[in-house]
Amino acid sequence: MASFADTSPADTGVSGPQDPPADVYGIDRWGRGHFEILANGELALKNPLLPDAPPVSLPGILRDLEQRGVHVPMVLRITAFLEHEIHRINNSFLDAIQRTGYRGRYRGVFPIKVNQQAQVVDRIVEYGRAFNYGLEAGSKPELVIALSHRLPDDALIVCNGVKDAEFIRLAILSRKVGFNTVIVLESPKELETVLEVHAELGEEPLLGVRVKLTHKIGGNWAESSGDRSTFGMNTDQLVAVIDRLREHNLLHCLKLQHSHLGSQVPDVNDVRRAASEACRYFTELTREGAPLTHLDLGGGLGVDYTGEKKASENSINYTVEEYCANVVETVGYAMDEAGLDHPVLVTESGRAAVATSSMLIFNVLEGTLYDAPTAPAVQEGDHHYLTDMIAVSSYMRVGRMQECWNDAVYYRNELRALFRRGHIGLREMARAERVFLNLMAQIKALAAANPDASEIDAELEEVVDIYHCNFSLFQSLPDVWAIDQLHPIAPLQLLDRRPDRRAVLSDITCDSDGKIDRFILEDGVSPSLPVHSLSEDHPYYLGVFFVGAYQETLGDLHNLFGDTNATTIELRADGGFNLLHEQEGDTISEVLSYVEYDPRDCVAAFRAMVDGAIASGRMDVSDRRQVMGAFRDSIEGYTYYE
Ligand SMILES: Cc1ncc(COP(=O)(O)O)c(C=O)c1O
Repeated sequence: MASFADTSPADTGVSGPQDPPADVYGIDRWGRGHFEILANGELALKNPLLPDAPPVSLPGILRDLEQRGVHVPMVLRITAFLEHEIHRINNSFLDAIQRTGYRGRYRGVFPIKVNQQAQVVDRIVEYGRAFNYGLEAGSKPELVIALSHRLPDDALIVCNGVKDAEFIRLAILSRKVGFNTVIVLESPKELETVLEVHAELGEEPLLGVRVKLTHKIGGNWAESSGDRSTFGMNTDQLVAVIDRLREHNLLHCLKLQHSHLGSQVPDVNDVRRAASEACRYFTELTREGAPLTHLDLGGGLGVDYTGEKKASENSINYTVEEYCANVVETVGYAMDEAGLDHPVLVTESGRAAVATSSMLIFNVLEGTLYDAPTAPAVQEGDHHYLTDMIAVSSYMRVGRMQECWNDAVYYRNELRALFRRGHIGLREMARAERVFLNLMAQIKALAAANPDASEIDAELEEVVDIYHCNFSLFQSLPDVWAIDQLHPIAPLQLLDRRPDRRAVLSDITCDSDGKIDRFILEDGVSPSLPVHSLSEDHPYYLGVFFVGAYQETLGDLHNLFGDTNATTIELRADGGFNLLHEQEGDTISEVLSYVEYDPRDCVAAFRAMVDGAIASGRMDVSDRRQVMGAFRDSIEGYTYYE
C-alpha cells in the first residue's frame, strides 16, 4: 500500500463538540485509578497518596516542561506512583503476616537490574526505609550501587548471579561496614571461590543457596522456571554444597534459601505451588543442619498491563494483596507442618515495584494516511479499469462493503500491473491511486457509521494510517520488540472527542520492525489504535504507560538513537507539580563515543575535508564557518527529532 500513501499531515483540525466517547482506550480498566480524563479532554494524573488532590493535566505538565526547555520524547517518572507501590508491597506483606499470625518478618529487596537509574534506586531506598527494604544485586556494578546507599540496619543486600572472587570479596568485606550482604551460591563451583576468598580474608561470609524448583510457570518467562532453567542447584548439587560447607566448618553461615520462578507470573496458583516446593527444600536443608533463617522467593509478582485480571502474558489473575497473602499463608502452613520456626520472608519484586511509575511520552511527527477525501472524475481516454473503479462509489452501501472492497482492490491491482508493463502512464496511475484511497475513505466512513453491520473489519486493518512518532522502539520499548510485551498506549489530549482514525505507530528508526501494531483497547487487543486527525497547529502526544521496569537499560542504540530525556516529578496537593530532576538525553556526541568514535576525531576529519574543498575551489572560504557550525551543532544535539 505504500505507493498510495498521502504523506502530508492532514490539517483537518478537530471536529466540533461531540458526546463524550466511551473509554476507548480502557483507561479505567488498566489505569489503577492513577488517571482521569479532564473536561477539556486532557489526560491527568491522580496522586494515589493524596486522593483528594486535584488531578494534574499531562499535556499541562508537558507545556510547562517545554517552557523550561525539556522536550519530548521523554520518560516521565512520577514519584507518588513509585512510593505507592513500595508501600503497597510492604504493607500487604505486613497485613498478611498480622492477619494470619505468621511469626516471621518480611524483608523485601528491590532487584537493581529492573531499573538501575540513580533517580529510581535512590527513591526506592528512601520510600522503603521504614520497612527495612533492601536491594538485590546481580552483578559487581549493581553491588557497588547497593553499597553506595545507606540502608537500614535490618535491610538485606542479596547478591545473585555469577560471582568472581572480586565480587565475593567485596560482599564479605561489606559486612564490616554494617551491611547484611548475602552471597547466594548459584553452583558448587561458586562455593569453591567463596572458600578461597574466605581463606584469604579470614572473614566469614553470610551465605544463601539458590535452589532450582521443578515447578514450571506459564507466561513469557516459562523458561526461567523448571528443570531447564539456567540458574539454581538441583538436589544433588545442594547435598554437595552442604557437605562441603560442613567439611569447612562453615555450614552455620548458610542462612538464606533463594529461588526465582521467572518474571510476570500470570497465575497466582503457580506462586502457591512454587512457595510450597521451596518450603520442602527449606525443610530438608534445615534437617541437614543448615541453620536457615530467611526464605527468599525471588521476583515474579506481575503487573496487569491490560487490566483484564486474567492469567495471560500481559495480565495476572491476582492483586498484590492476594500474592502476599498466598505466600505468607503457604509458607506458614508448610513450616507448621514441618515443625519449623517461621522464617523471615524475602521477595525480590522488581516489575511490580517500578513498572507503573514511568511513562514514555512522544509526539506524532506526521501521518501516512490510507484514504483520500476526494476522487478525480472520469476523463476522456481513461482505461476501463479506472472508469470501473470510479463507478464502485455508485453501489457503495451497507451489505455491499465487501463487494466494493473486492472490486476496488481488483481494479487497483490490474491498473498497477498495466503501469508496470508501461500500458498506462504516471498521471493516470496517480488518479487511480487517489480513486482507490477515496473508496477506502467511503468504506471506512460507512463501517464507522454502521459498526454492527460492518462486514470487513479485518480488511480495514490493512488500510489504517501509519502515524510516524518521535521515539525508538529499540531504545525505549525493547520488550515490545523482543517479546511482544503490551503496554497501555493512549493519546494525552482530545479524549473528550471520538477518535476519527485508526493507526499503527512507527518509530523514527529506519527499520520496518520499529513499529507498534498491538494495542490494549477497552474491548480487547487490537492491531490498530484509534487516534484523532492530526492538526498542524497542535502537537499530538501519545503516552506509553507502565514502562518503569526493564525498558530503560535493556534498550539499544539501533540507528544511534540514544537515551531520551528523563524527568522526575512530584505531584503536589494543590494540583500542581514540582520538577525534582531532569536528566538530559544522550547527545549525538555521546552515542558516537558508545560505538568507539571519538567525536573530536569526527570534527577534525570533517574540518580537513572542508579545508580541502576550499583549497580545491569547490567551496567558498566564507562558507566555512556556517558548514562547521552545522556539524558542531549536530554533534552536540539530541538524537531525536527536534
Ligand atoms: C533473581 C531474580 N530476582 C528478581 C527478579 C525480578 O523479577 P520481577 O521483576 O518479576 O519481580 C529477577 C528477574 O527476572 C531475577 O532474575
